Amino acid sequence: MSLIRFYCSYSLLLFFLFLCSISAIPTQVNGDSTTKTMEDFSGYPIHEPSHSFSPTFLPSSLSVDAQTLQNQIDELSTFSDTPAPSVTRVLYTEKDVLARRYIKNLLGLSGLSVREDAVGNIFGRWDGSEPELTAVATGSHIDAIPYSGKYDGVVGVLGAIEAINVLKRSGFKPKRSLEVILFTSEEPTRFGISCLGSRLLSGSEALAEALKTTVDSQNISFLKAARSAGYAKDQDDLSSVFLEKGSYSAFVELHIEQGPILEAEGLPIGIVTAIAAPASIKVDFEGNGGHAGAVLMPNRNDAGLAAAELALAVEKHVLDSGSIDTVGTVGILELHPGAINSIPSKSHLEIDTRDIDEKRRNNVIEKIQQSAMTIAKNRGVKLSEFKIINQDPPALSDKSVIEAMEAASKELNLTHKLMISRAYHDSLFMARISPMGMLFIPCYKGYSHKPEEYASSQDIANGVKVLALTLAKLSLS
Ligand SMILES: *[C@@H]1O[C@H](CO)[C@@H](O)[C@H](O)[C@H]1NC(C)=O
Ligand SMILES: *[C@@H]1O[C@H](CO)[C@@H](O)[C@H](O)[C@H]1NC(C)=O
Ligand SMILES: [Zn+2]
Repeated sequence: MSLIRFYCSYSLLLFFLFLCSISAIPTQVNGDSTTKTMEDFSGYPIHEPSHSFSPTFLPSSLSVDAQTLQNQIDELSTFSDTPAPSVTRVLYTEKDVLARRYIKNLLGLSGLSVREDAVGNIFGRWDGSEPELTAVATGSHIDAIPYSGKYDGVVGVLGAIEAINVLKRSGFKPKRSLEVILFTSEEPTRFGISCLGSRLLSGSEALAEALKTTVDSQNISFLKAARSAGYAKDQDDLSSVFLEKGSYSAFVELHIEQGPILEAEGLPIGIVTAIAAPASIKVDFEGNGGHAGAVLMPNRNDAGLAAAELALAVEKHVLDSGSIDTVGTVGILELHPGAINSIPSKSHLEIDTRDIDEKRRNNVIEKIQQSAMTIAKNRGVKLSEFKIINQDPPALSDKSVIEAMEAASKELNLTHKLMISRAYHDSLFMARISPMGMLFIPCYKGYSHKPEEYASSQDIANGVKVLALTLAKLSLS
């Protein structure tokens, strides 16, 4: 009753006391109509917002502060080692530390309790009414490769904080706790390890071991760099970062598409059903080299041509997979000694191949290896190395998370498209310990990892709204 009095104007006090007195009549007699009258009158529900709070009420009451969010994105982009509009923010540098401080401050302002682990994954938690239940998490990264843009990852961190604000403003009370996560070093820039924070969270023993001896290009050890940023204080063993499988009941990441599809089709929301995962391979061939004039063609064993032939074989095997989702790239091809008048005596290739189907991708890798051996044999060169550097399994989004995202988009009247993420994200690793889903928003021409990267405030606000409603649904489930 106090709520109603509060919102009632003083001049209506007498009428109000009358209403209050009839509300004391047992509900089975007159409750419904009285309640309705009072609600019509006050414009507010009489009962305390309850945990059985209906998500169908929610959509129209969700409002995103798009301007403040845009200002935050702009402000965060100033923590950069290269001039605007480019952004360069590398793990554990001074700018990274300042950007982290900025985020922690925002988490605090949103009333979240902040925790950091030994590698600097940052967690902001909003306790639900049943905090013993596993929480629902959302988040992304804020590190940026050299000369990139200000939206990759950032939209999923600042957007997640705004999604929490949206829910708080709407009066929502979570049942499961909601958590915002900032993942450490999604980009491999400094230590050559992608998704370092989420990979470690997901329990990678191999990574915990490797980080004890990992150094950057300046021979600064990972541990030393982490300590300079205030992390990994007195432990060399980073297994404290591991989270158990089942630590979250769901994880959702909001991200720019980094591809052109949503923009081209005029759709505001992409719902990711699977994340393709890369495998990387390093290959070395060795031949005899020799003078480009003196050695006649039948007598050559040209390591460069072996590399060229393997590059074409990669393309062939990828195309032969029969799926548009299989891709392969030779992004590095180096010849030694690299002189116009010298037959290459050594060649080095690095191959990236991806798919959403692990078996199909691994089949391509096998065929590439067979080709490498055949080419070496036919050309009389030595296949001195064929090394699979990493071979992460792809991940499928969880049905329950997809359904929550689809329902949220529908209720917000935002058309969506089911799609595949061809770039990989922290979500790929979160899928190892939690049901996972991802939301995409359009970005200008699909540009990413360059200063021209852009997403409109409107598209970001739509994404935040869908994220907020999805989190609300998952929190109550
Ligand atoms: C969605 O559209 C329906 C029908 O036009 C409308 O009743 C509803 O209020 C809209 N919801 C939102 C969140 O805009
Ligand atoms: C890198 O640092 C380690 C330990 O400080 C040192 O032993 C090693 O020689 C250094 N390596 C290079 C290439 O400078
Ligand atoms: Zn990203």
